[in-house]
Amino acid sequence: MQTIQLGNSQLKASAVALGIMRMVRLDSKAAANVLETVHDQGVNYIDSADIYGNGESERIFGQALKQSSLKRDDFYIQSKGGIVLDPQRSSGDLVFGKRYDFSKQHLLTTVDKILERMQIDYLDTFLLHRPDPLMDLGEVAAAFDELQTAGKVRHFGVSNFNPMQVSMLQDAVSQKLMINQLQFGVMHTGPIQFGMHTNMQDDASLNRDGEVIEYSRRQHMTIQTWSPYQYGMFAGTFIDNPKFPKLNAELQKLADKYQVTKNAIATAWILRHPARMQVILGSMNPQHLTESIAGAGVTLTRQEWYDVYFAAGNDLP
Ligand SMILES: NC(=O)c1ccc[n+]([C@@H]2O[C@H](COP(=O)([O-])OP(=O)(O)OC[C@H]3O[C@@H](n4cnc5c(N)ncnc54)[C@H](OP(=O)(O)O)[C@@H]3O)[C@@H](O)[C@H]2O)c1
Repeated sequence: MQTIQLGNSQLKASAVALGIMRMVRLDSKAAANVLETVHDQGVNYIDSADIYGNGESERIFGQALKQSSLKRDDFYIQSKGGIVLDPQRSSGDLVFGKRYDFSKQHLLTTVDKILERMQIDYLDTFLLHRPDPLMDLGEVAAAFDELQTAGKVRHFGVSNFNPMQVSMLQDAVSQKLMINQLQFGVMHTGPIQFGMHTNMQDDASLNRDGEVIEYSRRQHMTIQTWSPYQYGMFAGTFIDNPKFPKLNAELQKLADKYQVTKNAIATAWILRHPARMQVILGSMNPQHLTESIAGAGVTLTRQEWYDVYFAAGNDLP
């Protein structure tokens, strides 16, 4: 398993991580099997959020870790907070917020509850899940200081922030923000597409995220890519999906060449980018996970990377 240095820290994380958003579907025995399966293949990083399964995913994770052959220190454990769940609209692994809340009290309570549910003493990393327009920078800074001093959180980052939002928060907090978690993958290419279409009049030239990849590289922040096999916002996977025949044919061609599966090629496509992104996998199927992780051993050629990009419906000006 290739490793990447997270941000400017000493953390050497596996290039592929396990996200537990969908762990709410499993009982603790099946979840322990998932943890052991990915760990056996070199995955040393877990991503969570307090809202996943309304906290149930973290509870199951905590039980599964205890029941498994693994120890707390076998993983870097990350969670996110700052979204208040709307229980009316959320069920199972589908979660919707009713507000964002970056108040000091909410962030402190959130981390305490995460630690309790996961049955651990500290988080390696804690991310602010989605930017709260009502955030008071001083309150966030005070919360981070208190969490770090108490030994409850070692490192901090953000998720779904644009560069100006990162920069504004970075000016206020004493810790280096080392991660930005964003949707990115073969079917979610906006952050690179607009750069190739600079100064054109077409839709592809629209800059929706404010050069977030370029900014992250300059600031030595690691981008973690969520939903690597989904299209749209949780619309489903593009793998084996008849809506995407050209993309699946291209992925299959490369899968045959490298003797892996289409999931692996979609993983390798993200890892081929020089920003050294970390791919967060969300499957709860040990076979799908094994197939996806194999992508960390494949290095696509430059032309192959472009050919997948074209097969996903993109072009070059
Ligand atoms: N920061 C954020 O705002 C944010 C938002 C969303 C997610 N996340 C994080 O990102 C992680 C990954 O997200 P995700 O779960 O959407 O990622 P994903 O890995 O793209 O999608 C997983 C889903 O795709 C299915 N799938 C994968 N390979 C498949 C195949 N070959 N055939 C059929 N189905 C396949 C899985 O089903 P099976 O289980 O049956 O394999 C599962 O339902 C989450 O766990 C969470 O940690 C963060």
